[in-house]
Order: sequence, then C-alpha cells, then structure tokens
Amino acid sequence: MLVKEPQDIKSSEITPKEVYLNRRTFMKGAALAASAAGTGLLYRVLTGTGKSSTNSEAATETAQAANSSGEKLTSLQDITHYNNFYEFSTSKGAVAGKAAGFVTRPWTVAVEGLVGKPRIFDIDDLMKIAPSEERIYRLRCVEGWSMVIPWLGFSLAKLLDQVQPTSAAKYVEFVTLQDPSRMPNQNTDVLDWPYIEGLRLDEAMHPLATLATGLYGEMLPPQNGAPIRLVVPWKYGFKSIKSIVKIRLVDYQPSTTWNIYAPREYGFYSNVNPKVNHPRWSQAKERRIGEFGLRDTLPFNGYGDEAARLYDGMDLKVNF
Ligand code: MTE
Repeated sequence: MLVKEPQDIKSSEITPKEVYLNRRTFMKGAALAASAAGTGLLYRVLTGTGKSSTNSEAATETAQAANSSGEKLTSLQDITHYNNFYEFSTSKGAVAGKAAGFVTRPWTVAVEGLVGKPRIFDIDDLMKIAPSEERIYRLRCVEGWSMVIPWLGFSLAKLLDQVQPTSAAKYVEFVTLQDPSRMPNQNTDVLDWPYIEGLRLDEAMHPLATLATGLYGEMLPPQNGAPIRLVVPWKYGFKSIKSIVKIRLVDYQPSTTWNIYAPREYGFYSNVNPKVNHPRWSQAKERRIGEFGLRDTLPFNGYGDEAARLYDGMDLKVNF
C-alpha cells in the first residue's frame, strides 16, 4: 500500500534524510517566501527556469533514492510542468510560466460558518498548526492520467479541530482566491470564478484528506496551488482545490465548480471509480505520467482500505 496513516509513519521515514526532506531548506524557503523577491528566487528553482533543471533532476534523484513507498515518484519536472490550474491557463504546459511570480505572502485563509471558533489564519500561522510531513499519494486526474507526488502537508482535520465545527455542520466548502489581476485567466469565463469545491464533513475529517503546503521537500510552487491546496487522494484530481482562501462549514451540500460546469459529467463525490465511466470516456485505465502504456485504474485510486467505509450503503453509480 502506498500510503500510510500519519501515526504509522516512523519519524525516520517522515524526515528520511537531510538531503531529501530537508527541513533547513524548507525553513529557508519559508523565510525566503516572506518577500516577493525571495518567492521569485525559490520559484525559479521549482519552476525549472535558469539553473533549475539541474536542481529538478537532483531533487528527483535524491527523492527516488529515499522513497520507500514502492512506487516510482513522478519527476519534479513533470509535477511542476503538467498542471491543471485554469486560473492561469487551460493549457497544462503553460500554467508554470503563467503562474511564475504569483505572490502568496501575505495570504490568509478564513475558516468560518458552523464553527464555535471562526478564525482568519495567516498562512504562516496556519502552517504551524501541525508539522508538515511527507505524504506520497497517487493523483488520478479525471482526464485519464496519474502521477505519484511526494507532498508535504498535514491532515485537514487538524485545522478543522481548531475551529470546532458545531453539530449542525455537515459539509465543508472550499474557495480559491479570486483576483483577476493576479490570476489572469479569471478575466475569461472559461469557468465560474472563484473555483469552489466541497466535501462531506466525515470525508474532510478523514486523516488522508490533506492540506498540502509543499512537495519534493520544498514549498508548494504556484502552479501546484501555493500557498495551500487540498489533496484528497481517493478522489479525482479536480477535488484537490488549489490556492485556498476560504473554508466554510455548512449544513448543505455545497456547489462545486465542475458540477456547475457539467452536472452530468462531474458529480459531488467524484471518487475514483474504474466502473463508473465519464459519459464521454472510460475510466478503467490511466496513463502514469513518465510511463508508456496504460495501467488499470484502482477503485478509490487504491485507497479503498482507508476510504471505502465512508460510503457504506451508498450506490456509488448514483452518487458519482
Ligand atoms: N484548483 C483550482 N483552483 N483551479 C483548477 O483549475 N484544477 C484541478 C485541481 N485543483 C484546479 C484546481 C484539477 S482538474 C486537477 S487534476 C488538479 O488540481 C491538478 O493538480 P496539479 O496541477 O498539482 O497536478
């Protein structure tokens, strides 16, 4: 099994080697990101311009060597240059360039709604709620490709615990930044802005539901959803909303961007399910980025042992 519950991860694996999950580098990155110039510098490393290709190859090689998950990690280059982030571009190869220089400090995340202690978190305070740990998860995009990504992050439940959801809270709504001056494609109507997503509260409280703040031992680059994005590994990638500014606890099933766009094609749950085809294509197989040929897609993206129980008694063809 690729993923481990946080409590099962030995600290030696969480921080395998200074060379990989290099906390000093990470902290240096956090400090650098405090200034726009610093952010630019760090992101040059992560986005592959200038000297970065050497860094990118080195990061990938060291990470592969330290990776004990059993599955080959997707290269840093591919993870950071094959992106869906429609606020910047609808072309996967263009997102990194368009998002370079996206400034993510200052940044706040409001956590509000049906909670006892609503709060607006400064991103640097939010990142201190729980230690970031390495979490290697497969990401399966609804389009039919997949990656294996070494995220840095912590369980969303840790943040929700801080605000104390009331007994009336049943769902969690997530909202991406809306600022067309910084996210140029928001000047188009390719999607309804801001990008929104939702989870049932028990899904959100599941320990695998992750708030990611980094990948490959470094801060999250803009194209992957800096400064903070959701990762729900048993669901299609579009549930993993990027650059979050608001999290609202509600008592109704929230609207979601892709469900609004095409309700027959994208449901609220969107659990990875090889038996439920997208109306326009099969979901039985996937192409792992960096590999030739196709793999079988696994129910719940291979996280059924952990997540299937959330849907006991539900018809997942109806609730797609
Ligand atoms: N979040 C926002 N705000 N905007 C987007 O366009 N795309 C989604 C998801 N989160 C998207 C988003 C889709 S379709 C996928 S597959 C994943 O982000 C891609 O994440 P990655 O680029 O880090 O691989």
